[in-house]
Amino acid sequence: MTKRIFLTGANRGLGLALAAELIEAGHEVYGSARESAPTDLLALDPAGIVQLDQADEASVDAGIAALAELTPTLDVLINCAGADARAFGSPEDRRGPFDLDGETFTNVLRVNVTGPMLITRAALPLLQRGVDAMIINISSQLGSMEVAATSGRDTAYCVSKAALNNYSVKAAGALRDEEIGVVMVHPGWVQTDMGGERAPMTVDESSAALASLVEKLTLADTGRFVRWDGTDHPW
Ligand SMILES: NC(=O)c1ccc[n+]([C@@H]2O[C@H](COP(=O)([O-])OP(=O)(O)OC[C@H]3O[C@@H](n4cnc5c(N)ncnc54)[C@H](OP(=O)(O)O)[C@@H]3O)[C@@H](O)[C@H]2O)c1
Repeated sequence: MTKRIFLTGANRGLGLALAAELIEAGHEVYGSARESAPTDLLALDPAGIVQLDQADEASVDAGIAALAELTPTLDVLINCAGADARAFGSPEDRRGPFDLDGETFTNVLRVNVTGPMLITRAALPLLQRGVDAMIINISSQLGSMEVAATSGRDTAYCVSKAALNNYSVKAAGALRDEEIGVVMVHPGWVQTDMGGERAPMTVDESSAALASLVEKLTLADTGRFVRWDGTDHPW
């Protein structure tokens, strides 16, 4: 069945590849980007594009208002956009628990936690009119307490994904009676600008798995933290 899907960070990396997969599968895909003319996303000819910087509350509200002009309902929201401390100037090897300045730490949390919260809040009326509505928050294995205890160089990023998971669990509980699902997904360690060349998974492998997952998730999955293939990820 064709789904109306809104995906953030659709201009590059995993978001762009996932948008391509979902369009290819016949879904009605709306994507957001910070830039006004995201060339690679435009080339996919999605149902719509909105401009949105999720670090900025007014920009989120304006972006989702523009989305509501394009579509009255949404079946799936995918919060895919994200950033780590390198996006705010931190050197590769200066991201440990005692390295980061407060502004950088807060900036990462603003993009990865506050952003999805603001987008979810603003898009909720659209999802409430959707069919089998589902919110998919792209998390990370580094948001897992078990994994973060021994790996993950970027403390702000790890903390932000753990906080996104906590937010997602709370949203799942609050939306259960409305039959709107909320699921957290680790997409794999993937060869994007963020994941780097050493990552074992290609963008195509991850995005194909995620696109198939989008079609499989149901309300029975709400509150779960899963890998790209739908298996449970440890907390
Ligand atoms: N790659 C991995 O190995 C991996 C592993 C686990 C989880 N993830 C998660 O997967 C998601 C996608 O990551 P990726 O690997 O595709 O990263 P990426 O290639 O670095 O792309 C990041 C995306 O997020 C957008 N973004 C950053 N800050 C933003 C803001 N303030 N407002 C709106 N959009 C913003 C970027 O837009 P601009 O072009 O404007 O910067 C870009 O579209 C992220 O949530 C990431 O944490 C990735």
